[in-house]
Amino acid sequence: MQINFAAVSAVKTGVWVVAAAEGVGLLPAAAKADRAAGGALSRAMPTSQFTGKSGQILEVLAPAGVAASRILVVGLGKSEDFRRCGAETAAATAVGKLKGTAETEVTFEIDTPRGGKAKGAQLAAHLAMGIALKSYLFNQYRTKDLAEHESKLAKATVLTQDVAAARKAWARLEPVAASVALARDLVNEPPNVLSPIEFARRVKGLTKLGLKVDVLGEAEMRKLGMGALLGVGQGSERESQLVVMRWDGARKKDAQPVAFVGKGVCFDSGGLSLKPAASMMGMKGDMGGAAAVVGTMRTLAARRAKVNAVGVIGLVENMPDGKAQRPDDVVTSMSGQTIEVLNTDAEGRLVLADALWYAQSKFKPRFVIDLATLTGAIMIALGQEHAGLFSNDDKLSERLTEAGKKVGEPVWRMPLGSAYDKLLRSKIADMKNIGNQYAGSITAAQFLQRFVQEKTPWVHLDIAGVAWQDNEQKPLIPSWSTGWGVRLLDELVAEHYEG
Ligand code: BES
Ligand code: ZN
Ligand code: ZN
Repeated sequence: MQINFAAVSAVKTGVWVVAAAEGVGLLPAAAKADRAAGGALSRAMPTSQFTGKSGQILEVLAPAGVAASRILVVGLGKSEDFRRCGAETAAATAVGKLKGTAETEVTFEIDTPRGGKAKGAQLAAHLAMGIALKSYLFNQYRTKDLAEHESKLAKATVLTQDVAAARKAWARLEPVAASVALARDLVNEPPNVLSPIEFARRVKGLTKLGLKVDVLGEAEMRKLGMGALLGVGQGSERESQLVVMRWDGARKKDAQPVAFVGKGVCFDSGGLSLKPAASMMGMKGDMGGAAAVVGTMRTLAARRAKVNAVGVIGLVENMPDGKAQRPDDVVTSMSGQTIEVLNTDAEGRLVLADALWYAQSKFKPRFVIDLATLTGAIMIALGQEHAGLFSNDDKLSERLTEAGKKVGEPVWRMPLGSAYDKLLRSKIADMKNIGNQYAGSITAAQFLQRFVQEKTPWVHLDIAGVAWQDNEQKPLIPSWSTGWGVRLLDELVAEHYEG
């Protein structure tokens, strides 16, 4: 999709998108469109029960008196609630409506309602963001019925007063949209294609943006003592990989980096603790944490963020074969702590134990945030609306909570405590890798905390509920995978850690 900005003009080709707000009705551009179309919009509103609520859309086809092939009126919701998320949703709703039509061109003329927060160049840029996120497609494996799945829409123009300022604001956001698309691609990719080695190869491709990428294979990880991560991959025909990305953008070259760590289980069969068939479907997406880390690092590099950042992802395939790890095995992690593996399906924490330890020992980061599709239990607690946040640091938690609200990737803080930690006591080793039947997301987080070094501010995001969507489609997400986390971490860095 080609996205442009232009000054307000009367020339309209293709689709004309205007807006209404709840309790206000048609905004100025919409009122202008209504007049041009002989009052067709205002007549259609009551019969369509269109009131300008967020998510609502009114469509008038082939209106007489205007050049546009159709007019769409999008609802912005209540004026005072109108923020950048609302702008993104409104634009995405219009793009979604045009899917499956023959329209090739669309022009957005959206006013800020009185009291609304998103305005001017920022409004234009966030409309573009909504357009870009909603135009994402993943069709490489289709050979038939392409017309049904492709979009004819090729060009979107956002009308704005200050074109130069809008272009500048979009130059800051466009890399984020492209990186969300990369994260989505990685999660959508089938597991026969996306092995740990192929995943690592794709990350290496990002060096052209200025990222430094190192890949460690099994021999190097063995030397480092990463018995926890290697145990997970040992039942797979495919070699495990640890990918280390660095972006050195801080003004002070030796500034302490921020660190992101991702669970990259390219396929989670459960291992010998094999998952039942229905639960195994979708487990190609068990590398969603790693995808978010890659997307974030790509964003920081592409927008030349003034920060030093490292991304570490543990890439493995969890498979059952004659060499596979057994329930009852004891492994030694890079930290020196031993783990009794009682369930080989609780593998993400084993991968993260070594990836977290490596990131902290090697880079001494100012904080570490890990992302993982770690537990089914987090979906029982929070559904697909919030990611679970676990942390030893109130400030970092609050910053992430705020960032999440801003970008529309909300997180919800969950508790930690020694009573939960006790559930990890093992009969023969330093810990076991599962708790009891309760509080599964918390005991998983307690396990990870045992691999957080003293004084490192740490956040664990359990993204099992948000990395992909099962049924209902969220407004900005047209595919199974969501690309969750990229916008959140970009916002966190931009707001607090650059300079
Ligand atoms: N990858 C799964 C968690 C998961 C489940 C993600 C459903 C997305 C959707 C993880 O490796 C796992 O299997 N966790 C187990 C832990 C249990 C064995 C302690 C779980 O959640 O059941
Ligand atoms: Zn598992
Ligand atoms: Zn898993």
